[in-house]
Amino acid sequence: MLTETVRDLTREEYELFREMIYAKSGINLGQEKMQLVRARLGKRLRSGEFRSYRAYYEFVQNDSTGRELCHLIDAISTNTTHLFREVQHFEFLADVLKRGTSDRRWHPTRSEVTIWSAGCSSGEEPHSLAMTVHDALQPHPGISWRMLATDISTRMLDRARQGIYELHRLGTVPERFQRRYFRRVQHNRAACAQVTPELQRHITFARFNLMESRFPFTRGFDFIFCRNVMIYFDRQTQEALVHKFAEHLRPAGYLLIGHSESLNAIEHSLTYVRPTIYQRPGNG
Ligand SMILES: C[S@@+](CC[C@H](N)C(=O)[O-])C[C@H]1O[C@@H](n2cnc3c(N)ncnc32)[C@H](O)[C@@H]1O
Repeated sequence: MLTETVRDLTREEYELFREMIYAKSGINLGQEKMQLVRARLGKRLRSGEFRSYRAYYEFVQNDSTGRELCHLIDAISTNTTHLFREVQHFEFLADVLKRGTSDRRWHPTRSEVTIWSAGCSSGEEPHSLAMTVHDALQPHPGISWRMLATDISTRMLDRARQGIYELHRLGTVPERFQRRYFRRVQHNRAACAQVTPELQRHITFARFNLMESRFPFTRGFDFIFCRNVMIYFDRQTQEALVHKFAEHLRPAGYLLIGHSESLNAIEHSLTYVRPTIYQRPGNG
């Protein structure tokens, strides 16, 4: 409930936020998300003592540091995730890395494997990937690996960097990985587990907005995981993004998207491998 001092969100104000959020993050709220914006920004308005949504909108617009825009996108974005979400993707990754049998062009004869978790939320995806890669490359000590994990939300990235999960959230992690890659810690008085430094040292967490016109990565990736992120973007935005992902994959590298997503409606240069998995043509 908003306090009496905050004026309710009008349709016109909603449209202003909607346009701003779309322009800055690609998140396409549609016409029907007024209640979501009202509720999620309402908290911010009350804590900042803004009298109206319009006053808050103007504050965000005039904040040249961009910090408040960051808070606004944080409040709006949906960060749902869990460890080993959509487990087939991890099995696929392990399979490609271990045996190269699913694609003879991509065999781990290269000396370094690079992975990008784009839209990593609170860290569950990159940490699950890291366990999978570490385990799969165990018999190949000559192959190093590193991972970039990015998100637009600084709040989520702070959590991701800690790599601390409440014990009950480890239920989807294979048991041998639980034993191998976590150590027990107390966090906020709760029994938790933290990802070992052995894994963490391979991962670089960074804030990156997928709407940036230029991607500043000089070297290509073998795997890009962008799962359950594009679902919030419209077709045009998805198409532009997939085009950039394709440019940043090494030849024969893979793009993996969420299970409720598909590239069917957009034009792209990638080869379909199986549902939600695409590959850049060429030899690795
Ligand atoms: C639903 S979570 C998905 C997390 C994980 N990939 C998974 O599948 O479990 C979507 C994430 O995308 C991020 N996101 C949304 N728009 C973004 C953008 N323009 N740039 C970067 N990250 C974005 C959100 O902050 C959120 O953490």
